[in-house]
Amino acid sequence: MEPQAVKSNLILILDYGSQYTHLITRRIRSLSIFSLCISGTSSLKSITDLNPSVIILSGGPHSVHAHNAPSFPDGFVEYVEKNGIFVLGICYGLQLIVQKLGGEVGVGEKQEYGRMVIEVVKDCGGLFGGKKVGDKQVVWMSHGDEAVKLPVGFEVVARSEQGGIAAVENPGRRFYGLQYHPEVTHSPEGMELLRHFLFDICGVTAGWKMEDVMEEEIKVIKSMVGPDDHVICALSGGVDSTVAATLVHKAIGDRLHCIFVDNGLLRYKEQERVMGTFEKDLHLPVTCVDASVQFLSELKGVTDPEKKRKIIGKEFISVFDAFSHDLEKKLGKKPTYLVQGTLYPDVIESCPPPGSGRTHSHTIKSHHNVGGLPKDMKLKLIEPLKLLFKDEVRELGKILDVPVGFLKRHPFPGPGLAVRIPGDVTQGNALDILRQVDEIFIQAIKDAGIYDEIWQAFAVFLPIKTTGVQGDQRTHSNAVALRAVTSQDGMTADWYYFEHKFLDDVSRKICNSVRGVNRVCLDITSKPPSTIEWE
Ligand code: XMP
Repeated sequence: MEPQAVKSNLILILDYGSQYTHLITRRIRSLSIFSLCISGTSSLKSITDLNPSVIILSGGPHSVHAHNAPSFPDGFVEYVEKNGIFVLGICYGLQLIVQKLGGEVGVGEKQEYGRMVIEVVKDCGGLFGGKKVGDKQVVWMSHGDEAVKLPVGFEVVARSEQGGIAAVENPGRRFYGLQYHPEVTHSPEGMELLRHFLFDICGVTAGWKMEDVMEEEIKVIKSMVGPDDHVICALSGGVDSTVAATLVHKAIGDRLHCIFVDNGLLRYKEQERVMGTFEKDLHLPVTCVDASVQFLSELKGVTDPEKKRKIIGKEFISVFDAFSHDLEKKLGKKPTYLVQGTLYPDVIESCPPPGSGRTHSHTIKSHHNVGGLPKDMKLKLIEPLKLLFKDEVRELGKILDVPVGFLKRHPFPGPGLAVRIPGDVTQGNALDILRQVDEIFIQAIKDAGIYDEIWQAFAVFLPIKTTGVQGDQRTHSNAVALRAVTSQDGMTADWYYFEHKFLDDVSRKICNSVRGVNRVCLDITSKPPSTIEWE
């Protein structure tokens, strides 16, 4: 889906680096309005090309007085006024508006952080709609600087209890500003304000539905891929590549050719399980390549985590390369396109933090893709999910009849169990032991009805032997660790608090039924300081 393909009513967010910027985008999309986020320092052309009807200037950690403080481009104010575009500044965004339109921003004496009470001070049909003077609400603030003199024509419509400016507006010029974050749940009436602003003030109409996204995408793919072109896709067994492939398959049928690689590092019965879904439920044309011997022989004796990742990436490329050459022989021509399940958070360019010396921060996690691809293949990319968030991909998957159980699967790293066996992956029967332990743990989590509360759960094989007594005998066997975390996006995470009885049952079951394990540990670190995976 290209931004240009999106119909009118686009809400464009210019990102100045606030940790909440993506949340604004998601909140607006939850109102069935399409919203995109681009860097706050984007060129005027990239803004005008998108033809937004409303622009939101996000918050950010900068001071408008700082050298090189990020700002909208020259000509922005003229452009929005000429085209009747509504502008809402949030925190830093408000200060930008004030400063650029002739007001004054001072270094706040009363710095306001956290929960604050604000009071409506002007009876108006503006930002606070039906509210009356004296009405109060709790909001989430986080600012040091503050507007001390407003530009001509602007009025204060709400103040904090300490007297600071909380909201301003100039309806004539269609400029509005909030000195708090309406998008966070700590501002309980924030969503209502956003709704009122977009629908009642800006006159935006809702109508962005996942069904439309699917139709639009299918149209785009059909027009992009020529009638004789063939497309390939590597399926990882995860939600993103599965939904992307299913969508492309709907558009071009069996000119899509998928490959699923068993690298010998998959979970218990993974190959059978995912191939069942691909073939029986989704009717995807998938070639399953068992390359486990090839992967494991290359990994033998390798202990460095990054080396392991590199080897796995390289082997993946060689399997993929062979697949595409076989296909070329069979079809009599090279495949033209490659499908990737890239998501929106992977492509958003944000404003970098102050002092970082960078002009843009790019959040692509290269090592988190299925594996690099051969550069000389010259495949053109189809990335049908690149404007969607994870939960939206799940919604799209539902419409595409991807089984719900599959859509809710926990993420699984590309290098698979290799990053869950510190040291040599091929040592003894580590992989086998790990598969059995992991399966018991995950099944217990599912049986306890807590799978969906957890971002990711798995077992780790510890490459140490400990002493135990099993039956009447002393044993010298392996220890395993269990890890379960809650998270929003995998960037930070907290360990999951299991009930003691659950842990007790799982630990007993593992030691009683997995030969070679006599000790079970629980990982109780959050991220940071740990990462989610052990390697
Ligand atoms: P960490 O361990 O960095 O993991 O806290 C964050 C998320 O990324 C996954 N992960 C990977 N995914 N290739 C992948 O495809 C990798 O090399 C890789 N390393 C970590 C991890 O499972 C978690 O969801």
